[in-house]
Amino acid sequence: MIEVRGVVKSFGDRHILKGVDLTVDDNETMVIIGGSGSGKSTIMKCVIGLVRPDEGSISVDGVDITKLRGDQDVAEYRRKFGYCFQEGALFDSMTIWENVTFGLRYLTDIPETKYRKIAREKLALVGLKDIEDMKPAQLSGGMKKRVSLARAIAAEPKYVLYDEPTTGLDPIMSEIISDMIVDLKKQLGVTSMVVTHDMKSAYKIASKIAMLFEGKMKAVAAPDEIKSSKDAYVHQFVEGLSHGPIQMKIRDFD
Ligand SMILES: Nc1ncnc2c1ncn2[C@@H]1O[C@H](COP(=O)(O)OP(=O)(O)OP(=O)(O)O)[C@@H](O)[C@H]1O
Ligand SMILES: [Mg+2]
Repeated sequence: MIEVRGVVKSFGDRHILKGVDLTVDDNETMVIIGGSGSGKSTIMKCVIGLVRPDEGSISVDGVDITKLRGDQDVAEYRRKFGYCFQEGALFDSMTIWENVTFGLRYLTDIPETKYRKIAREKLALVGLKDIEDMKPAQLSGGMKKRVSLARAIAAEPKYVLYDEPTTGLDPIMSEIISDMIVDLKKQLGVTSMVVTHDMKSAYKIASKIAMLFEGKMKAVAAPDEIKSSKDAYVHQFVEGLSHGPIQMKIRDFD
């Protein structure tokens, strides 16, 4: 279970998170939606311990990451997670199979001789075959995205955080990835947080949808409730309407 309580985070004088509360129960898929730059990736990075909140607490299975100081404790905490970065974040100098199995070296119980086989299996799950020996530069953007998904699930973590897993993929591949997220939940009991702008995928995979707006969770509800929400902000966002209470800033410095 992931419990985010009163998380505040500023970058300089930009106040991004102003008291975020969110509970992700075991075996739940929590989808986070919200405008570009609203702080969705920042929340995910706080949860995994890449960004330290200014205030508030984040507990996973009762362990509060904001209180951990020792490298060993932080490493143990992070081992529970698979993380699919928005930008993919593959290592250019490594082969695809080395990328996919990169996190396994921190798990002592899997022998290195099995790495290639594991990479092959995980790549097959995301629809990729015979690319183990290639380098990231030889792949298309969508293929790289899928390799980073395969890496996130390689160690079969309890929690998987996906940051825009379907962005940049064609509609069929988006559907395949959405199905994969649903399957992982069903088969392995994975608990997930997913940031997405893809509402079709959100409705398909979510047990709950949380909308981040002006530094707080504006709504947290089941997909059906979000879809039919009477809240003018939520309605405007999920329907993608240009008119409504949400004023989009075209220029960041306005
Ligand atoms: N390490 C950082 N240093 C300074 N500013 C940062 C840092 N990380 C994020 N920000 C700022 O915080 C804000 C929120 O960023 P974040 O990446 O969380 O947004 P997002 O909701 O994921 O947006 P998008 O949908 O475009 O991915 C942005 O204004 C961004 O410039
Ligand atoms: Mg983001």
